[in-house]
Amino acid sequence: MNNFLPFALPDIGEEEIAEVVDALRSGWLTTGPKTGVFEEDFAAFIGGGARALAVNSATAGLHLALEALGVGPGDEVITTAYTFTATAEIIRHLGAEPVFVDIAPCAFNIDPEKIERAITPRTKAIVPVHFAGLACDMDSIIAIARKHGLKIVEDAAHALPATYRGRSIGSLETDATVFSFYATKTVTTGEGGMIVTRDERIAERCRVMRLHGISRDAFDRYTSAKPAWRYEVIAPGFKYNMTDIAAAIGIQQLKKAWNFQRRRAEMAARYDAELADQPILPPPRPNEGDTHSWHLYVIRLDQRLGLSRDEFIERMAARGVGCSVHFIPLHLHPYWRDLYNLLPHHFPLSDRVYRCAVSLPIYTKMTEGDQTRVIEAVRETIRSSVRSSTVRSSAFRRSA
Ligand SMILES: Cc1ncc(COP(=O)(O)O)c(C=O)c1O
Repeated sequence: MNNFLPFALPDIGEEEIAEVVDALRSGWLTTGPKTGVFEEDFAAFIGGGARALAVNSATAGLHLALEALGVGPGDEVITTAYTFTATAEIIRHLGAEPVFVDIAPCAFNIDPEKIERAITPRTKAIVPVHFAGLACDMDSIIAIARKHGLKIVEDAAHALPATYRGRSIGSLETDATVFSFYATKTVTTGEGGMIVTRDERIAERCRVMRLHGISRDAFDRYTSAKPAWRYEVIAPGFKYNMTDIAAAIGIQQLKKAWNFQRRRAEMAARYDAELADQPILPPPRPNEGDTHSWHLYVIRLDQRLGLSRDEFIERMAARGVGCSVHFIPLHLHPYWRDLYNLLPHHFPLSDRVYRCAVSLPIYTKMTEGDQTRVIEAVRETIRSSVRSSTVRSSAFRRSA
């Protein structure tokens, strides 16, 4: 279809293109000066004296952060079932066990009470996920971690920029926070991620482990005027460094991050207002003092509508609008389900939300007209489903 509105598109301007060309012309393509600038800019953007370490994905960043905290075989790490598999797979890479808990009522984020109930003597860390860019109840999660001597690594893949009680995500009292710059994220480098921490020991371990466990990075070795070929491997590290080509995109994207956020917030407010009379639940609103990054705008269809989530998405696609689903909760994926004998009734809220959740397009490349099309497509899809069944229609009117 020619006029199809995709679910997501990156917003790349001439500034990013010029910065990438500069990287290409510089003769230095892998981790080097642009990555250094991006890290410094990012640390300043987050504030609170954090150090920022660029990596080639948030998955890599989460892996490194938990490795730096010493998570390993025999340990348990508590996280949400309502996330992308990356959040949990890295726990398995370290030989530890993810322990999944359900989301809070009326929310997409992990329920702190359920975290506390899942703690055992083997629990080492908590990985909360700021779903869609809305902060978790971090005061409660930090209090639980302190009480039980646990570490926290925030999965902030969606949360740039976002604040919690007036403070940037990335500047709270947790051990590390990891952001994603995947192509559909609010700020992108194509593929990429950033670890933010105020703990020097974690920062140093991540710095070394992101490049094979080598004590000096390549830029340092190859550009030194003195003979500097010697290096030492101090651990079996990973190949997780960011390239300067990616960092070049990130430098310019970061400058636009708050403008992007404002535009997304405007779009979210418009969806809220213009879909308010529809049989759908809008996404949870941020609390006073919190800023939502609006990476995703996830509606929940009223189940009395008689239209399944899958049918809704098909009909939206037929009207030229791409939608998505975030997420298929982990207990429904064969690997996680079979490994831990997970059943839907263990995660009743995640299960219920998943069955009616639809992510509508929300990105800065969309015009007002594009958003009008989405709103009209939603209204028309719902109207036609109500029309298609008098039984549904009358049930619907009764419930309205
Ligand atoms: C919640 C969450 N965590 C982690 C990731 C992994 O990010 P990346 O693709 O940068 O590795 C994603 C990616 O979509 C995500 O949605």
